Amino acid sequence: MQPVPADPAPADFDSPDDVARAFAEQGYITDRRLATTTFVMSRLAKPLLLEGPAGVGKTELAKTLAAATGRRLLRLQCYEGQDETKALYEWDYGKQLLYTQILREKTAQLLADTDTLEAAVDRVAGADSAFFNERFLAPRPLLEAIRSEEPVVLLVDEVDRADEALEAVLLEMLAEYQVSVPELGTFVAETPPYVVLTSNNTRDLSAALKRRCLHLFLEYPDADRELEILRSKRTGLGDAAARRLVDVVRGLRGLDLRKAPSISETIDWARTLAVLGVSELDADVLADTVSVVAKYERDVERSRQALPRLVDPNATVPAALEHGHTHAHGSHTHGGHTHDHGDHGDHAHAEHGHPADDGRRVRAAKDTPGRHDDSFGARGGPADAPAAPKQVRAGQGARSFPGNRGGARRRPV
Ligand SMILES: Nc1ncnc2c1ncn2[C@@H]1O[C@H](COP(=O)(O)OP(=O)(O)OP(=O)(O)O)[C@@H](O)[C@H]1O
Ligand SMILES: [Mg+2]
Repeated sequence: MQPVPADPAPADFDSPDDVARAFAEQGYITDRRLATTTFVMSRLAKPLLLEGPAGVGKTELAKTLAAATGRRLLRLQCYEGQDETKALYEWDYGKQLLYTQILREKTAQLLADTDTLEAAVDRVAGADSAFFNERFLAPRPLLEAIRSEEPVVLLVDEVDRADEALEAVLLEMLAEYQVSVPELGTFVAETPPYVVLTSNNTRDLSAALKRRCLHLFLEYPDADRELEILRSKRTGLGDAAARRLVDVVRGLRGLDLRKAPSISETIDWARTLAVLGVSELDADVLADTVSVVAKYERDVERSRQALPRLVDPNATVPAALEHGHTHAHGSHTHGGHTHDHGDHGDHAHAEHGHPADDGRRVRAAKDTPGRHDDSFGARGGPADAPAAPKQVRAGQGARSFPGNRGGARRRPV
């Protein structure tokens, strides 16, 4: 039987502008697209899937949504090999055993008049419900979100790290906002949770999951919004320096770095410069502190080479420094230096970190599932090879969802 959707909770937001305002109050700066998608998500009770590079505010969005609506935040952090007992529920065997021990005498009385093993087993089986009831249920975030009497925000963080089997469990839960515990019945959410899923694109998510979700690709913010974020964080760096810093960071994102600087790293960099008492940016102070945003030796080197040009586009940079960098759209590699064979006009833009290009092109070229592997960057290497399909254990997920089997309804709506 198809469940009747639960009544929507009283509206949390009146409009996308209302979302933007409420989020700004919590220190989260949105843009139009983000505010609109969040508003729609809150009205349609559809999960929101956020994809995008590290540190662009995916997790923070869910936390802010909880803070702005006063809802409790439940978080399921996904990882490889995680199974449904960590996501849905498990039986608290320790507690069950303890109770059995304490009730030993009572059990003996119960079995006193049985004279065969079969009769004793039947008698114990008759008392099943005493041990498989909610008292011994250990709910994990998915069940907790469904069972909660108060409306909640459910954050399923880094869902791309979960195995496909767990994704299947999620799909079922997200489709109907219900979870079935065979021994107890089906729990149906009284108020559908706001569900936010995040992904770093380490593997492709199933089309079925994407179909069920509103989808938003969070990019790095434009310069104005990043500056606004810096302001909201009260980093202590003056406004003029902050603006230049934003431009420098955007320039760095346009380089072919292994790990582009994230918003959180821009914030850290601003704080670092403020602590050092810097009021005007110059290439030297940026080079001394660039490890705040560049976390690989190769990236540090490349960033240092580019900084004089990024902080002062009119600066003349020694030719020796300008060379030796890797070209983003190369098609073959010699000893770590990839050479470009075409598209020189475009490449010049991205490679030289023009502030107007925050590196979209470079990232788009890298945007293959598994791009955060160790083999990342080795074009034609393992990162480009199609991933072997993961094994799904037979029956995983089957115990928790009734499918067409039906099941007792605990909370009819
Ligand atoms: N729009 C924003 N407004 C204010 N702060 C932001 C915004 N976006 C990101 N930040 C800041 O960046 C930090 C990092 O964001 P967050 O942890 O949400 O990144 P993420 O996208 O989840 O990254 P990862 O993929 O590495 O988990 C936040 O703690 C917050 O300080
Ligand atoms: Mg995150």
